[in-house]
Amino acid sequence: MTVPDIIIAIDGYSSTGKSTLAKLIATEFSFLYLDSGALYRGVTLYAQEKGLISPDNVIDEERLRASLDALDLHFEYTPFGSQTYIGERCVEREIRSLQVSSQVSPVSALAFVRNFVDEKLHEFGRAKRVVMDGRDIGTTVFPQAEIKLFLTARPEIRAQRRYDEMVMKGDSPVLEDIIRNLEERDYIDSHREASPLSRAADAFVLDNSNMTLENEVAWVRGLIQGKFGILE
Ligand code: DC
Repeated sequence: MTVPDIIIAIDGYSSTGKSTLAKLIATEFSFLYLDSGALYRGVTLYAQEKGLISPDNVIDEERLRASLDALDLHFEYTPFGSQTYIGERCVEREIRSLQVSSQVSPVSALAFVRNFVDEKLHEFGRAKRVVMDGRDIGTTVFPQAEIKLFLTARPEIRAQRRYDEMVMKGDSPVLEDIIRNLEERDYIDSHREASPLSRAADAFVLDNSNMTLENEVAWVRGLIQGKFGILE
């Protein structure tokens, strides 16, 4: 199926399978995949390593703002997918740790951090043929995206998915910690002042609790066919 040059925005709560679906769509339609959460996670890791966040989430905003200019945060595309880098260093694994997950929401609630990330996302978006996932892509970053999806799934399913993902990577997570982290992030992400997580009025909602990935991709394909009158 030939898809026109469009932007596909996928938003939703943590661990609803946004990035898995986005990567499959990118492969299926030869689109560029952009993981906006990875950029927020990269900023969080950077702040942690510079000692700018205390264990109880107090952020040294002034120093973080000043040091963002020196932060070279970018993606590199490999045969295994996109990898997040800080300078020369691949930080893909570190940014997925529970330590980063536990502090990323307060960091991403800061308006100057959001501006830093949005600027990068807009640069990528100029290319079109992009699928981007996050919390505010369809509402704030690319309100003009041609296709907007809002993913949901039952909380216990989301926690189990994140648990399985971490075990696969060789970590030994505790399910209760993951559930607590998801609840905390849901709350902060949807209640922050700057660009809170919310569904765009023109987004299609997909509850994938009981769907296979094949079903999800087929559903998106149908949506694109319907919207652009593609017959095949
Ligand atoms: O998708 P993720 O779990 O990797 O995202 C990590 C955090 O980044 C999430 O808790 C909230 C924040 N985020 C955001 O505020 N806006 C986005 N567009 C993407 C992520």
